[in-house]
Amino acid sequence: MSERVIPLIDQRTAALSPPAAAFDSSTRVSANGLLADQLGRPLRDLRISVTDRCNFRCNYCMPKDVFDKDYPYLPHSALLSFEEITRVARLFVAHGVSKIRLTGGEPLLRKNIEILIEQLAALRTLEGRPLDLTLTTNGSLLKRKAQSLKDAGLQRITVSLDGLDDAVFRHMNDVDFPVSDVLEGIEAAKAAGLGPIKINMVVKRGTNDDQILPMVRHFRGTGMVLRFIEYMDVGATNGWRMDEVLPSSELVQRIHREVPLVQLEPSAPGETAQRWGFANAQGGHDVAAGEIGVISSVTQAFCHDCNRARLSTEGHLYLCLFANQGHDLRSLIRQGASDADIASAIGHIWQARGDRYSELRSALPADTGSNSARRVEMSYIGG
Ligand code: GTP
Ligand code: 5AD
Ligand code: SF4
Ligand code: SF4
Repeated sequence: MSERVIPLIDQRTAALSPPAAAFDSSTRVSANGLLADQLGRPLRDLRISVTDRCNFRCNYCMPKDVFDKDYPYLPHSALLSFEEITRVARLFVAHGVSKIRLTGGEPLLRKNIEILIEQLAALRTLEGRPLDLTLTTNGSLLKRKAQSLKDAGLQRITVSLDGLDDAVFRHMNDVDFPVSDVLEGIEAAKAAGLGPIKINMVVKRGTNDDQILPMVRHFRGTGMVLRFIEYMDVGATNGWRMDEVLPSSELVQRIHREVPLVQLEPSAPGETAQRWGFANAQGGHDVAAGEIGVISSVTQAFCHDCNRARLSTEGHLYLCLFANQGHDLRSLIRQGASDADIASAIGHIWQARGDRYSELRSALPADTGSNSARRVEMSYIGG
């Protein structure tokens, strides 16, 4: 029995054109930081995918049988250049974005990524502050790159790590990559001052859920924030099944039985993670022990205040992780559009946004979503 759906159409190339109203002087939207979508949600967070390639083959993201040697990765000419990325990023910042995350695929595989980081680190928010500039990596190249990333102006880093046991980790990355190299990468990031470091673990029931407690014990008291992510039905290739999702509520109970936790307040609006602190003997938060986070994208959707936009590797703007089409900003850039035109296009696209996929899906008994075969892959728009 095969549950795998291999997309027949390449969603990457099919993209929407910005609406004509964006370029009409009477309906132009200028960037003033006040943008709101159809549900009143502001635009604050931009995730930029800098490559669709990765050296891991995590089954939930880039399963080996789909992402094999014949997979049609984007040619270099299709990728936004660093200059193009920085130009668009500046316009997003003018619209109110204050956080930029570089993603992939594996962003450290993009040649000279430090140059892009230098360019982005020079941007200032509408209030004149540096951006919250961060990057999500699988950690495989971090030992070598941590210092140069810091020197280029990267502030902090998030490392994906799906287990501590070497055999489990090798199984999860499916390329036999040893866990010790990633742990050394994390230490290098810490030594370089790329903090606060977050560690993201995708949990699949029956595959790596035995790693939850070892991970908690390992990262407790280190100043790093370990976050557990519910395995999502993102993309069209991972053969997602609800019975492999470990609901965060169950995960928190499992940890709490051994290591008592106390719930913490959210630290920012629109945050993906719910925070839990390690409890002290009095039942308060033991600040020195730190905290964990749970990202319950499946069982407790957080679309109501989702302020995240995603720029794909080839410059398509996606309004939701589960969208099946993006909006083609690259053509606009390469046709010679002015900054005002591109900013207006971004404004119009965001104002029309009504996406709230996870909330809608959780209203259904199971994922029977009609668009699931056409959904874009996470390795292309970034997590
Ligand atoms: P911080 O600023 O460090 O807190 O990062 P973040 O939680 O905003 O982003 P990160 O990329 O670390 O997100 C962790 C994981 O949460 C991702 O890999 C996804 O699995 C999931 N996630 C992030 N953003 C979204 C989103 O907008 N929708 C859904 N459904 N899941 C998301
Ligand atoms: N479910 C949840 N998170 C995912 N990621 C990729 N695929 C999935 C999925 N199916 C996220 C993980 C990983 C990051 C690169 O993307 O957080 O660490
Ligand atoms: Fe690569 Fe991250 Fe996807 Fe794993 S989850 S295949 S490390 S991009
Ligand atoms: Fe945002 Fe879409 Fe994720 Fe909901 S499912 S939080 S709208 S990206």
